[in-house]
Amino acid sequence: MRMKRILTVVGARPQIIKAAAISRAIAAHFQGRLEEIILHTGQHYDANMSEVFFSELGIPAPAIQLHVGSGTHAVQTARMLEGIEQHLLDLAPDIVLLYGDTNSTLAGALAAAKLRIPVAHVEAGLRSRDRSMPEELNRIVCDHSSTWLFCPTGTAVRNLVQEGFPDHEDAQPTIDRPSVVLSGDVMYDNSLHFAQLAAQRSKVLEGLGLQPGSFVLATIHRDNNTDDAQRLERLVRSLLSIHADHGLPVVWPLHPRTRKRMDELLPADLMQRIEQGEGLKLIPPAGFLDMIALERNSRLVLTDSGGVQKEAFFFGKPVVVLRSTTEWVELLDHGWAVLVDADPGRIANAVQYYLAQEMGVAPALYGDGHAAERICAALAG
Ligand code: UD1
Ligand code: UDP
Repeated sequence: MRMKRILTVVGARPQIIKAAAISRAIAAHFQGRLEEIILHTGQHYDANMSEVFFSELGIPAPAIQLHVGSGTHAVQTARMLEGIEQHLLDLAPDIVLLYGDTNSTLAGALAAAKLRIPVAHVEAGLRSRDRSMPEELNRIVCDHSSTWLFCPTGTAVRNLVQEGFPDHEDAQPTIDRPSVVLSGDVMYDNSLHFAQLAAQRSKVLEGLGLQPGSFVLATIHRDNNTDDAQRLERLVRSLLSIHADHGLPVVWPLHPRTRKRMDELLPADLMQRIEQGEGLKLIPPAGFLDMIALERNSRLVLTDSGGVQKEAFFFGKPVVVLRSTTEWVELLDHGWAVLVDADPGRIANAVQYYLAQEMGVAPALYGDGHAAERICAALAG
């Protein structure tokens, strides 16, 4: 069988983490059948948003770095398109492998599909039904440009079928006759794989002076939460109330976007309360092993992140979702997550409810921990 050349496009933090699962599977089981070249768009560039994950998770360094940096959606995507196209022409890969729903995903999909290079989309079929989210548009365009659609859940497969995709795999797929594969979730693969290592290596709890089970974990970075002063202020005040009402500190690894918007948009007295009080423990973006350790040892997670919602669940923690929709609807259906938007009353009620709740054993909603092998097997043909 001929070796296939895959060009993997990453750019934002969660994609680098997801790519780790596939790189690991290729190294362990598909040497000689799949060759992977990693292209980094440079969408995320701070060391703690990018570099740290390559070194911690053992991912090969990107062969290509486009350094596109930050910008408006159009500027950022256009720079990526131009750079990716040039490298596709030079490298002539058999497959372009894309993750998730960021602008890097969108650019990779458009550049490859227009050059008639087959696209494989990992995390296909997710829908929040909210097209005001840039991520929803990115998902839809990427799915409809793809030849392989790797779905983490049955819900994702059903979403695609509703949009006219077949509900089955195809051994010889094309963009017009794509293969829809229920692969399971590579993030679940990663959580299983790295949990032990995190337990051995992470010193984040000691560094923060925290005992397991004695804190709440929060992350916020969605543009509609960070860029709207009123919503951001309501969210921050809600997080401060958790300490006041329940005596639990809130550990909050700050995405650089959120850090910048807090400085710009929040009143000075609130910033002072945040920085001087005991309620919030603001930390820089965490490495993945520290993040897993925080998720695993928290009482409860509040987040607007897609990935953090699921990881909390993988570690048996309930999730208060600081959004009005989620693409991870199984978590709602099974009672592990609740949508509260940026509404202080709903946030307080959800926190109160989950802190009093015994969660029991998490059901298997995201596969069996071998999604990456399944994806590689389909691509190797
Ligand atoms: C992006 C994705 C989002 C994903 C998130 C993961 C899009 C449209 N959004 O959002 O889906 O959930 O990544 O974290 O692709 N910045 C830095 N340093 C960095 C990176 C960003 O300071 O290394 C700051 C810049 O001010 C930048 C802002 O964060 O303008 C936003 O970055 P950007 O990549 O545009 O979007 P994210 O909010 O990170
Ligand atoms: N993550 C991390 N450090 C942090 C915050 C998140 O390592 O400080 C990891 C998290 O464990 C998950 C992924 O980043 O694997 C989620 O990325 P993010 O929340 O940035 O984006 P989303 O999933 O919403 O696209």
